[in-house]
Amino acid sequence: MSDKKTIAVIGATGAQGGGLVRAILNDPDGGFAARAITRDPDSDNAKALAAAGAEVVKGDADDPASLEAAFDGAHGAFCVTFFWVDFSAETEMRHARAMAAAAKSTGVQHVVWSTLEDTRKFIPLDDDRMPTLQGKYKVPHFDGKEDADAAFREAGVPTTFLRTAFYWENLIYFGLGPQRGEDGVLALTYPMGDSRLPGMAVEDIGKVAYAIFKRGSEFIGKTVSIAGEHLTGYQMAEKLTRALGEEVRYNAVDPDVYRSFGFPGADEMGNMFQFKRDFEAEYCGARDLDFVRSLNPELQSFDDWLATNASKIPV
Ligand SMILES: NC(=O)c1ccc[n+]([C@@H]2O[C@H](COP(=O)([O-])OP(=O)(O)OC[C@H]3O[C@@H](n4cnc5c(N)ncnc54)[C@H](OP(=O)(O)O)[C@@H]3O)[C@@H](O)[C@H]2O)c1
Repeated sequence: MSDKKTIAVIGATGAQGGGLVRAILNDPDGGFAARAITRDPDSDNAKALAAAGAEVVKGDADDPASLEAAFDGAHGAFCVTFFWVDFSAETEMRHARAMAAAAKSTGVQHVVWSTLEDTRKFIPLDDDRMPTLQGKYKVPHFDGKEDADAAFREAGVPTTFLRTAFYWENLIYFGLGPQRGEDGVLALTYPMGDSRLPGMAVEDIGKVAYAIFKRGSEFIGKTVSIAGEHLTGYQMAEKLTRALGEEVRYNAVDPDVYRSFGFPGADEMGNMFQFKRDFEAEYCGARDLDFVRSLNPELQSFDDWLATNASKIPV
């Protein structure tokens, strides 16, 4: 029997969890084994993970018993929730509680929980510079995640609170890439003024999570905040212009204008960008890039990411 420590990975067929599974599999002498948790072990993504060497098991955050079975015997667990499935921070809390309870009951020794800041600590609900959403949040997919930190604390599981950042993959898959205006010119439209937006290649989240597991107990009970690079919209547009070989302008709209765009989640995204714009010092300051690079020496810059991904950006 292998003496490797097993890491059970929620969201293994997705972006963050997938990065962690690949980081573990790419380091066969690292002492860790990857257990990929999926609702559908027969999916193409799940089969690809199995073919690459991961143990694939069934688990659903809506089925606590399945999580217990999936965590059983694991040394560590990577936990992430799925806000954009139903835009509900309450669902995230329910899922986080189920994950924390499963980690506790199975004796998992280290959870890395993928979380974000509670923006209400910076912009209280009665601050009307941005609307309150769903009755009790400013940025539900941020605020709800820090709320859910409590699920792990209260369950008493040894946890590292991994605060992630904006994926540059949002430019490919999330409709946040440059759009062609009526004048035919590409424009990157974010309500960020001239503040810097911390961003990263999503694959690096998994690499950092793996580094945290490898460092043993060093980060248990700690918050680790990460990004790959902090760039203004102007800098991103300049780099996109070079990578795409076509002019990309930065269009710094007002957050109120952004919230009025009408796509699902426009108000939420407008609030998120405004929080990052108005609290640039705190939000960037929490994400020390030298420290992140010390955990993951392969950390990509935006230029690195563009070198392999620019051709996938739909323009
Ligand atoms: N986009 C960004 O810039 C950004 C930045 C920071 C944080 N985030 C946060 O990242 C989270 C999403 O992570 P991601 O991007 O890695 O997700 P993702 O790529 O959409 O993948 C999520 C995976 O989770 C699995 N899953 C979905 N519902 C599940 C359930 N009920 N039980 C068990 N597994 C389930 C799915 O796998 P199966 O279908 O195989 O079960 C899916 O492949 C969100 O909460 C979001 O707020 C996003």
